[in-house]
Amino acid sequence: MTEAPIVIVLAAGEGTRMRSSVPKVMHAVAGRSLVGHVIEAAAAVEPAHVVVVVGHGRDLVIEHLEEIAPWVDTVVQAEQRGTGNAVRVAVDALDAQGMLGDGPVIVLSGDTPLLTGETVRALLSKQQDSGASATVLTADLEDPAGYGRVVRDAGGLVSAIVEHRDADEETLRIREINAGMYAFDPKALVPALGGLSTANAQGEEYLTDVIGLLSEQGSPVAALKVPDSDEILGVNDRVQLSAAASLMRDRINRRWMLEGVSMLEPESVWIDVDVDLSRDVTILPQTALRGPTAVASGARIGPGVTMVSCEVGEGATVTHAWCELAVIGSGASVGPYTYLRPGTSIGNGAKAGAFVEMKNAELGERAKVPHLSYVGDAVIGDGSNIGAATIFVNYDGAEKHATVVGREARIGSDTMLVAPVSVGDGAYTAAGSVITDDVPPGAMAVGRARQRTIEGWVERRRAGTAAAEAARAARSGQDAQDATEEAP
Ligand code: UD1
Ligand code: CA
Repeated sequence: MTEAPIVIVLAAGEGTRMRSSVPKVMHAVAGRSLVGHVIEAAAAVEPAHVVVVVGHGRDLVIEHLEEIAPWVDTVVQAEQRGTGNAVRVAVDALDAQGMLGDGPVIVLSGDTPLLTGETVRALLSKQQDSGASATVLTADLEDPAGYGRVVRDAGGLVSAIVEHRDADEETLRIREINAGMYAFDPKALVPALGGLSTANAQGEEYLTDVIGLLSEQGSPVAALKVPDSDEILGVNDRVQLSAAASLMRDRINRRWMLEGVSMLEPESVWIDVDVDLSRDVTILPQTALRGPTAVASGARIGPGVTMVSCEVGEGATVTHAWCELAVIGSGASVGPYTYLRPGTSIGNGAKAGAFVEMKNAELGERAKVPHLSYVGDAVIGDGSNIGAATIFVNYDGAEKHATVVGREARIGSDTMLVAPVSVGDGAYTAAGSVITDDVPPGAMAVGRARQRTIEGWVERRRAGTAAAEAARAARSGQDAQDATEEAP
């Protein structure tokens, strides 16, 4: 039985080039932090322990890790004295707690969000199958500038890794680079870490020097070359963050398309890692599905939709909308230009139409709010219709109050429902009403001033205006018509 591996994730660096008050590894790609992606990839080898080395911004990083992956351990590297030092700090902490056994030690970097679990598994297998003291993950790059170069001996084994800044002309021509991810035999790693020096261009303890030391003492070092060098893309600045996000978007979209989701213009569709889509979902351009959003079969989302942590039922359509923590029933229709705020639930076959904002509101089955309305803190029963420009007046300036509308009710256009208030089943309200008292089932509530019409006002008070002229013409036309009708 081989012992389960230990994974060390290096995340103590400052990430200066991000120019951010947020620690680099907490920046997100597809709704998950950079370090979160690496931990997810690490989980593929079912490690006995995952240890994240933290340093810069450690309070924030530790808090973040407790939230997203409470099972990982953290160890503090107080000063960033190099990648070798970081691994030594982690190994010492593991050893002190009796957690360092004979199982392989995998070292990953906290800023490589595109790394996959399959590659971590392949790295581990290579290490186990080759019996090497270490295995380095490498890639061939068109432009290897900045990376450590992999120097191989005649037999193809790795003899050293030379940092760009420490390399001579000939070494700089090597296009195979060190991805900064490794698997080690702990029996080889621990003594080698003790032998690291800071005699290099950066005055740091390089983890890469462990490789040279092992090779010198005759312990074979293997390499695993990734076929797709995108996987090892490290994020150091916002340009690389954006590049990683695009690559991740393409990867996620490709996966969903192969699972039976149609996408028009996938380059403008952004789907977070925690989203769940069913077959025959269609996603139209300029759409972002964020958080743990779930969309059932046959639904059509977009164009121009952002959904954050929403649930969408079968066959629903959502067009030009912003929806957050909302549930949309089967066959329901939302949009265009609709804002569904947290706590909104749209019943099966119901509709929230153009220029409608809803918050903490439940719309019953087949119920409709078709146009220009605000619905806040409300329950609307099945089959009810809310006329255009109805406002649920839920806020008295100090507190929020609730409104209940029964089933099959008809709320006239431009009704103000002043909460707390209720409208019973099958009741009507007259257009333009301000409803302050409860309306019993089946009643018609009228809450508006009676119309007063002052004949001839415009011609008297606005004489000489175009309106007065139109009024006069209409009246004389009417007089002439009246005269003709009376003639015979
Ligand atoms: C490192 C490798 C280089 C490789 C490259 C791949 C070394 C010396 N060089 O260079 O060969 O091509 O990665 O991306 O290892 N970190 C700490 N504590 C420290 C220093 C770094 O935790 O004291 C962390 C950083 O936060 C980062 C990772 O280690 O996540 C790599 O450090 P970084 O300084 O980015 O290494 P590179 O110069 O990129
Ligand atoms: Ca560095």
